[in-house]
Amino acid sequence: MNRLQDKVAVITGAGSGIGRAAARLMSAEGARVVVADHDAESAHETADIITAAGGQALPLAVNVLEEDSIAAMINSTVDAYGAVHVLCNHVGGTSPRTDLDLLRMDMDEFARAVALNMRSTLLGSRHAIPHMIRAGGGSVINTASVAALVGDVTQTAYGAVKAAVVNITKSVATQYGPQNIRCNAIAPGAVVTPALENNLPQEVVDSLKKGNALPYLGAPEDIGHVMVFLASDESRYLTGQLLVADGGMTMQSSAAPGRRAMLPD
Ligand SMILES: NC(=O)c1ccc[n+]([C@@H]2O[C@H](COP(=O)([O-])OP(=O)(O)OC[C@H]3O[C@@H](n4cnc5c(N)ncnc54)[C@H](O)[C@@H]3O)[C@@H](O)[C@H]2O)c1
Repeated sequence: MNRLQDKVAVITGAGSGIGRAAARLMSAEGARVVVADHDAESAHETADIITAAGGQALPLAVNVLEEDSIAAMINSTVDAYGAVHVLCNHVGGTSPRTDLDLLRMDMDEFARAVALNMRSTLLGSRHAIPHMIRAGGGSVINTASVAALVGDVTQTAYGAVKAAVVNITKSVATQYGPQNIRCNAIAPGAVVTPALENNLPQEVVDSLKKGNALPYLGAPEDIGHVMVFLASDESRYLTGQLLVADGGMTMQSSAAPGRRAMLPD
C-alpha cells in the first residue's frame, strides 16, 4: 500500500495505456503523480481517476519532442510538489506504415523515431537529474521494448532507437549511481493498449499471442507493476538493468510453438 509513500513520480505518456496504468498503480502505493501527456484531455482523465480513488495527481500537457516543454514539465513538478524522485520516460512508438524494412523505410520517420523515443528519454533525464541529486537520489525508468533485442522484418527505426534507450539507461546509471540515482529500463512485449490495437492487424496480434510462452498477451498493469517495483526502494540494489516483461516471447526458441504442437496428447 505505501511502497512509494512521500515520493513524487513524473510519468510521460500517462494519458493512455501503460502510462495510465503505471500512474494509477504508483498513486495506489502513495506517490504523488505528475500525469504528463501531449493529449491534455487524456492527462486530465487519468488525474481524475487517481483523485477519485483518493490519490494526488497533477495533469500536465507536455510534448516530449520539445526540450522547452520537458523542462517546463520538470519545473512545474518541483513548483507543485517540491521534488522529483521518480521519472518514467515512457512516451515512444513508431509508425508501422512508414517504419519499414531498411530499403523502404521513410527517413523522416527515422528522424521522428529518434526524437520521440531516444532524444526525449535523454532530455527527460537531463532535466530531472539535477533535482534528484538535490533530493539525495532518485529512480529513472525508461521504456524500451523487446524490439531492442531482436531483428525484425519492419520497424527498423524503432528497434534501433529502443536499443539506444537501453544504452542510455546504462550510461545514466553509471554516471549518477554515486549520487544515489538508479536508472533501469523495461522492455515490454506485446501489451494490449490503444497503440497496439490501432496499429496492428488482427493476424499480427494473433501471431504475437502464439509467440508467447504464456497463453495471453500483456495488460497495461503487467508493465505498470514492474514500473512500481523499479520506482520503489525494493529495487534499491538494481541499476542499469533491462527488465524484460514479454510473456516469454523473446526467451524461447522460435521452434517452440511448432514443437509444442508435435507433443503427444
Ligand atoms: N503496447 C505495447 O505493446 C508496447 C510494447 C513495447 C513497448 N511499448 C512502449 O510503451 C510506450 C507507450 O506505449 P503504450 O502502448 O502505452 O501507448 P499508448 O498509445 O497507449 O500511449 C501513449 C501516450 O503517449 C502520448 N504521447 C504521444 N506522443 C507524445 C508526445 N510527443 N509528448 C507527450 N505525450 C505523447 C499519447 O497521447 C498517449 O497518451 C512506448 O514507449 C512504446 O514504445 C509498448
